[in-house]
This record gives sequence, structure tokens and C-alpha cells, in this order.
Amino acid sequence: MRNLNEHNITDAVVARFADTPNPRVKEIITSLVRHLHAFARETKLTEAEWMEGIKFLTATGQKCDDVRQEFILLSDTIGLSQLVVAQNHSRSAEATEQTVFGPFHIENPPAKKDGEDIALGAPGEPCLCVTQVVDEAGKPVPNCQVDVWQADAEGFYDVQDPTWNRDKMRLRAVFNADAKGELKFWTIKPAAYPIPTDGPVGAMLTMTKRHPMRPGHIHFAIQKPGYDPLITHVFIDNDPYLDSDAVFGVRSSCIGDYVRHEAGTAPDGSKRTQPYYTLNYKFVLAPEIKHA
Ligand code: BEZ
Ligand code: FE
Repeated sequence: MRNLNEHNITDAVVARFADTPNPRVKEIITSLVRHLHAFARETKLTEAEWMEGIKFLTATGQKCDDVRQEFILLSDTIGLSQLVVAQNHSRSAEATEQTVFGPFHIENPPAKKDGEDIALGAPGEPCLCVTQVVDEAGKPVPNCQVDVWQADAEGFYDVQDPTWNRDKMRLRAVFNADAKGELKFWTIKPAAYPIPTDGPVGAMLTMTKRHPMRPGHIHFAIQKPGYDPLITHVFIDNDPYLDSDAVFGVRSSCIGDYVRHEAGTAPDGSKRTQPYYTLNYKFVLAPEIKHA
């Protein structure tokens, strides 16, 4: 087909994908073309603006490396990540809600045992996390794998240190909860922090007068065969950014009660010489999603 114009080009492009063998690939690429063309028409996109978009996406790719994922950050800051998460994990009111994964998880973090400290000297106030994993009926889910990661009290993940290597991992660990689904560990109380702003996503936030802050939180990923893998956060109650999270990840059910205590004997029996916090939180797993 030749002599295409602004009115008939979309159908011509879609037709060019007609022989795509995989029906799902065909559906996605066809829909993407239709929506992109509709966007260009609706906004009457100019060539200069389109080139700015190309430059922005190029810079986003160029910012990515083994530990920096600027495309995930972009998806997170335009709410696409949380939309995809939400539509794939609609759960009962009892189950803990799914939230965005974020870019700071590391595969194979250090394996730790119940009661251990994952802070390893990171700045911040000590916090004892006492958790339990149950099913929707409230029955303990035994021996699940619990993966934990968080920023320090200054708002940085270990991987953001330019000298970071796998020997410098802290504030992250993988545990096995016990036969009652219970797990406790020491860490530090998290604080609100900005998502990385030294790349094109930061420039986009500045240009649109958006702040980059996330309310303080600890990330949890919990797995057990037979259940939908849970990826969630436990946020700090009363954090000023709970209603304006830069990545749209806050769910009311994911706000924890971080309680301050004076020095003394902590619930795990350890003697604390300084004030500390406790967080008690129950995770409720939803059944595995069976795909047709
Ligand atoms: C995080 O909480 O680690 C995070 C999530 C999305 C974007 C940036 C950071
Ligand atoms: Fe985080």
C-alpha cells in the first residue's frame, strides 16, 4: 500500500502485522500501534516533540546498567507498574495487597536465620520486625521464603554506593519463616527517601513539578508453593508522603505500626542500651492464580 495519509496509515500498519503467528504478540503489538497513533493524533504531536521523546527514551536506555534500571523507574513514576501489578493480583479483602517491585532488589541476597540483624551497621534506629505469614483463613503458612530489602535511614540502598559489590550487601536478606509462619529479625526503622533523580526520570519529575519522594518502607517478597507470590511493602505510619508516593505504591493495608520503645529488654529477650522500634506485621497470602 502506498500514498498513505494521516487518516489511513494506522490500519495499514496494523495490517502489516496480520501474519504474526503468536496471537498474544499480535494483540499486544496491534493495540500498541493503535494507541500510539491515537496519542500522536490527539496531541497533534510535532516532529520536534517526537524527537524530544526519542531523545528521552534513548537517555533512559543509556542510564541502565546491571544495578540501575531507569526504564522500571519510568514505568513506576507514570503508574504503569502499579497498574500492571494491580490488574494481575486482584485479591480478597483479607489478603495482603501486591505492590510494585522497584529496582533495588538483588537476586540471591545473603541467607540469614531467625533473629539475626540485617542492618550490619547501616545508619538508623534499631527496629525488631516480628512477622507471621498466614493464609486467608488465618491459618499459619509454614516454612515460606521471606526476602527482605530496604534503604538506610539516609535514604540509600546499598547498591547505590558507587563502590558497592556483593560483599557489601546490607539491609537485605532471605529468610525461612518457621513452622508457624513466624519470623523475626533486626533491622533499622526505614525513612522516606527520593527515588534516583540523576537521570531522565528525575528530569521529567523536575519539568512536571513532581517530588521524587517515597514514604519510608521495608520491601518483602514471600513465596510458598500453592500461593500467589507476594511482593509488598510495609510502610511507616504517619509518613508525610503516604498520599503522594512518587511511584503510586501505597496501600492502606500495607501501613505498619512502628512502635518506639525506651532502652530495655526487647520482645526477643535481647538487652537494648538505646531506644528501639518494633514492627509487628501479619502477611496474608492469597491462593496461587491458576492460568488457563
Ligand atoms: C523502591 O521502593 O525501592 C523503589 C520503587 C520504585 C522506584 C524506585 C524505588
Ligand atoms: Fe524501596
